[in-house]
Amino acid sequence: MDSECARPGLPIAGRLNSVRDWFKGRLFWKLLLALWVSMLLSIGAAIAYLRSTGQADMPPPDMASVGLLPMVPLVSGMLAMLVASVAVAWYLSGPLRHLRRGLNRVAQGDFDIRVAPLAHGRRDELTELAEDFDRMAGQLQQLTQARQILLHDISHELRSPLARMQAAIGLMRQDATLTPAMVDRIERESQRLDALIEELLTLHRLEAAPETWAVETEDVLDLLHAVAEDANFEARAASREVRIDAPGEFVASVRGELLHRAFENVIRNAVKHTAPGTVVDVQARPGEGGRGLVVSVADRGPGVPEDSLALIFEPFTRLEASAAARGVGLGLAIALRAIKLHGGSINAAPRVGGGLVVTMRLSGP
Ligand SMILES: Nc1ncnc2c1ncn2[C@@H]1O[C@H](COP(=O)(O)OP(=O)(O)OP(=O)(O)O)[C@@H](O)[C@H]1O
Ligand SMILES: [Mg+2]
Repeated sequence: MDSECARPGLPIAGRLNSVRDWFKGRLFWKLLLALWVSMLLSIGAAIAYLRSTGQADMPPPDMASVGLLPMVPLVSGMLAMLVASVAVAWYLSGPLRHLRRGLNRVAQGDFDIRVAPLAHGRRDELTELAEDFDRMAGQLQQLTQARQILLHDISHELRSPLARMQAAIGLMRQDATLTPAMVDRIERESQRLDALIEELLTLHRLEAAPETWAVETEDVLDLLHAVAEDANFEARAASREVRIDAPGEFVASVRGELLHRAFENVIRNAVKHTAPGTVVDVQARPGEGGRGLVVSVADRGPGVPEDSLALIFEPFTRLEASAAARGVGLGLAIALRAIKLHGGSINAAPRVGGGLVVTMRLSGP
């Protein structure tokens, strides 16, 4: 004889327990029960009150009744209340079921899922919640796509110098007279790799642990003057010039190293792209209402097409192929994050008469 037959009460109790657990875990049934019982109680209370105050008669003896309550209106009323309760419970718990399904799909990495269209035109807090969910799924989708593109670009960027180094080694093996030139080439490529990895680490640190850069109180305009001076030194060797017009001071608590990097990249970009014999103008003025600081760097280079003005702040965007101006393609991505970290903004615009103006806005100290 198996144990189920020997103790028939246990499996039934277990089943009852699991039904009770399932019932407890379902919002729909809880709402249904709560609504139905509350309607029954309020009607029961109303009838009891009317009876006790003599405002309603007892049911006639020939009418089917339960105590004071007549059966037919009682059953039809209970059925009507049940239907109304089912409708309300369904209406309230339906969107939550869609949301739950959506969250499960997101947890499995499917960011395509959208739940707001399932609301079918209703407008309430639950629909707003569904819209918030869709926004979150959209942002997660963008982030993962950006990560995938970045990973692909990084692999490609790391591979190119390595491939060139391997080619140089191959040529060296075939022809020993090429050795000095190939060693130079390998050195250049390894420097390029080093610069790329350094910029990648900076970009990663800016996103993952920006607090690791020390905050110091310093004059941002001093910093700008120092960067412009260094850039001018290099520019003059290439028959270009950097002129700075940044009077006064702007003392603030900043991550100086990061601002230095941002200024340096923008000014060096301008020097790299401006035409020979032209001047790069660096200007700093107080922001609107005398608050904050606006730094602009204007050159006389080829500029950037209108539809790429925002794109140049994305990692690995390089628009021109000229070897002299070729960089890693991370400078402006780092500058954007560095300026944003200081509550500011950076943008690029065409310069009247030709060239590019990059404007960095910093909020007040
Ligand atoms: N002043 C400018 N004039 C014209 N094009 C520019 C200018 N500044 C940036 N660009 C374009 O934007 C791209 C991205 O600039 P970014 O500074 O991010 O990278 P990079 O200078 O190529 O490399 P690095 O990481 O070494 O700075 C450049 O490759 C260039 O095509
Ligand atoms: Mg650059």
